Amino acid sequence: MLKKFKEFLQLFFSTREPLTYPEQQVTIHGQLYLARQLEVVDVDQVFALEGDVYFNEHPWTRGTYIHELRQSKSKLYLGLFLDSQLLGFVGCRVASGDCHITNVAVKPALQSNGLGSWLIDEVEKFAIMWQCESMSLEVRVSNLSAQRLYRRKGFVSRKVKYNYYDDSAEDALDMVKYL
Ligand SMILES: CC(C)(COP(=O)(O)OP(=O)(O)OC[C@H]1O[C@@H](n2cnc3c(N)ncnc32)[C@H](O)[C@@H]1OP(=O)(O)O)[C@@H](O)C(=O)NCCC(=O)NCCS
Repeated sequence: MLKKFKEFLQLFFSTREPLTYPEQQVTIHGQLYLARQLEVVDVDQVFALEGDVYFNEHPWTRGTYIHELRQSKSKLYLGLFLDSQLLGFVGCRVASGDCHITNVAVKPALQSNGLGSWLIDEVEKFAIMWQCESMSLEVRVSNLSAQRLYRRKGFVSRKVKYNYYDDSAEDALDMVKYL
């Protein structure tokens, strides 16, 4: 990695353990948001947002989120807030040189305003800081709008995971971006 680029990224991420993401104000499509790491106190908001997005289905329990947020290393859970209200978040975990996006969701009323794209870009910076070779995620085969966003971000299809989702046995598309 170019030294200057690495220095630039270190403005965003501190490499002390546990890795911290400094709280910052960010402008996305002309609107100012607060971006910060999610904490256990945010779990109710995360859960509510997930309910909005998935029609009251919850892929993860509150306990799963709390467990994830308490893991100190190799993960980033990042939220975008306006007036203390969580409007979007992304989660990722690093393992074996891959940064896996575990969740990404934006409040329905705020979708198509660039929040999802911004959150994925932040994960990419995080993945580069961890010297990952790739980023990956799974997405429902029916979720064409999310797939469009991921392809625009440089993800490509790797394989289909059959009967991947417990609720509907829907297949997942396994997508990867090589860094
Ligand atoms: C997938 C998801 C996270 C994307 O977040 P988002 O904030 O809507 O994403 P963005 O706004 O960055 O981009 C999405 C779309 O908005 C469009 N868009 C973004 N900014 C725009 C603008 N200023 N003007 C017009 N269109 C714009 C993008 O072109 C894209 O359009 P397309 O899907 O029709 O191609 C969000 O839609 C979501 O929460 N979906 C439900 C949960 C989900 O499916 N999660 C993913 C599971 S793998």
